[in-house]
Amino acid sequence: MNKVTVQCPGTVANLVCGFDILGMALNAPYDIMEVRLIDEPRVIIISKDGFPLPSDPAQNTAGAPLLEMLEELNGDTGPANRPTHPVGFEVSITKKIKPGSGLGSSAASAAGAVVAANHLLGNIFSKEDLVRFALFGEKVASGVKHADNITPCIYGGVTLIRSIFPLDIVPIAAPALHVTVVHPQIEVRTSDARQILRKQVLLKDAIRQWGNIAGLVAGFMGHDYDLIGRSLEDVIIEPVRSMLIPGFDAIKQCCKEAGALGGGISGSGPSIFMLSRDESTARKVENIMKDIYTRIGLDHHTYVTTINQQGVKVVA
Ligand code: HSE
Repeated sequence: MNKVTVQCPGTVANLVCGFDILGMALNAPYDIMEVRLIDEPRVIIISKDGFPLPSDPAQNTAGAPLLEMLEELNGDTGPANRPTHPVGFEVSITKKIKPGSGLGSSAASAAGAVVAANHLLGNIFSKEDLVRFALFGEKVASGVKHADNITPCIYGGVTLIRSIFPLDIVPIAAPALHVTVVHPQIEVRTSDARQILRKQVLLKDAIRQWGNIAGLVAGFMGHDYDLIGRSLEDVIIEPVRSMLIPGFDAIKQCCKEAGALGGGISGSGPSIFMLSRDESTARKVENIMKDIYTRIGLDHHTYVTTINQQGVKVVA
């Protein structure tokens, strides 16, 4: 086998209170990626749908992780069962997750590339290795290695990154939840959305945030929907970033009044996500989101979906 096609899920990073440490994979939207094994140690990038993706692999979110993988394959520290002949990868990307949407577009490319390449190599790397490689894609995309999109994209489900250096990944068994996402058609670059954040935090805010993070994890693990709802509060990042997102406060308030457990900015925005216990509430929430953006006159796209439990999936 020298070719594989993978489906790479969109992700919601932060999950409101867990900036850079919590994330969740979604069943929609997703990218499709085809990776082919070639017999030269290089990476070739092909964009299939006209998105202006960088063709220089070192500048591409799928390419940079693969270059790291190749370096390890060709170095002294790579896995013992690595191929003995030169290998490289040709990657074709069909992007459905818009870059700058806050739905983990760069992570989907990075994670998809390394999972597909590993599959072609006979799964010689662990999932944790794959996260380590994929982080180089996030570095290219936003200037910072954050793992809260990549990890759920590779592992599926909800994940906690207790530490990034060294990597300490904790999968969290969340209950069934319905996720409604609205993507207003504006672009927020993660690097810009990080730039505007305050570098220092008041102790009282940190205490409230710690309570919420612990509450959210306990709520997920104990399947306690009310606790999940109460814990979906962010006193540090959201007050700053929500200013970049038209209609944010109205959407959040109206969706909660309609029965959503809670939600907030997806990753660095501008998408907004809401969690609900049942699909009919999730659909009601979708209509509210649509109504508010229609009234504001802002083009938007919505998804009503569930948590993706598998992460990047080999489909052919
Ligand atoms: N944790 C990152 C941020 C996610 O909020 O900047 C970016 O998708």
